[in-house]
Amino acid sequence: MKTKITILGAGNIGGSLAHLIVQAELGDVVLLDIEEGVAKGKALDISQAAPLWISSSSVTGSSDFGSTAHSDIIVVTCGYPRRSGMSRDDLLIANTSVVSNAVRKAAAFSPDALFIVVTNPMDAMAQLTMEVSGFEPRRVVGMGGILDSARFRTFVAWEAGVSPRDVEALVMGGHGDLMVPMPRFTTVKGMPVTELFAKEKIEAIVQRTRQGGAEIVDLLKSGSAYYAPAAAILHMIRSIVSDEKRLLPCSAYLKGEYGAYDVYTGVPIILGNEGIDKIIEIRLNEQERADFIKSVDAVKASVAMMRKAISKV
Ligand code: LAC
Repeated sequence: MKTKITILGAGNIGGSLAHLIVQAELGDVVLLDIEEGVAKGKALDISQAAPLWISSSSVTGSSDFGSTAHSDIIVVTCGYPRRSGMSRDDLLIANTSVVSNAVRKAAAFSPDALFIVVTNPMDAMAQLTMEVSGFEPRRVVGMGGILDSARFRTFVAWEAGVSPRDVEALVMGGHGDLMVPMPRFTTVKGMPVTELFAKEKIEAIVQRTRQGGAEIVDLLKSGSAYYAPAAAILHMIRSIVSDEKRLLPCSAYLKGEYGAYDVYTGVPIILGNEGIDKIIEIRLNEQERADFIKSVDAVKASVAMMRKAISKV
């Protein structure tokens, strides 16, 4: 049987992701949105590209949660995107109600699914998804670190003048302004960037990575990035569908790992068809640990804000 993948939200990320899934023939897609016309229109457009891509994957647009029943993977992209000058946390209050309603309905129709959470502020929304669905934490994963690491890789590749294929990078912590790019674990063909670039150069790349989403929001004026976010989600879907067990930085529920409790934050995980197989604990130096804790504290603050928003509903 083909994998069934539901995408909640037919915005720019949802639409781009549906396109990538069909092109890669990773499964059949249901694109769900309250704007039924948008979901159906994008689905039809992508369906008509399928013969040209020689793909047997289908995509259906719908506003009815019944059509998502028995999904294997549910990707949560619904909610409001960031606008210029807005932080991811500014979105928190609006997106808390959108995400909890959508997740509650989707989880009821697909009790065995695995959630990939993308809506911002992503780490808090991943925690919300776990709590509302009642799914075990290994079945709820947040997308952030792959995107942030891809941005880091891009900037390092440009600086080194090499193909981004030859750059590996790691970004940990929350998917927010305090994310923690890790130069010690970022390499050009195995050589750590700490050996290759001057300190100031690395610091500039780290800052640009942290602001990577905002830089695009400022340029686009309305809406936020979607090509790279969709590509990052596709990485996760591929690892799940083919049980690849890729080691990927994703937001996972921490129960003491890295000294953090009861919080979703970006860490290296092994991702397979049962969800999170394992959280990998690497040894951090003092500075990295301090930066990580600061980032976790920021996620906890947005979770606290989220709880306040819920209590008012
Ligand atoms: C970004 C959004 C997807 O970082 O969070 O561009």
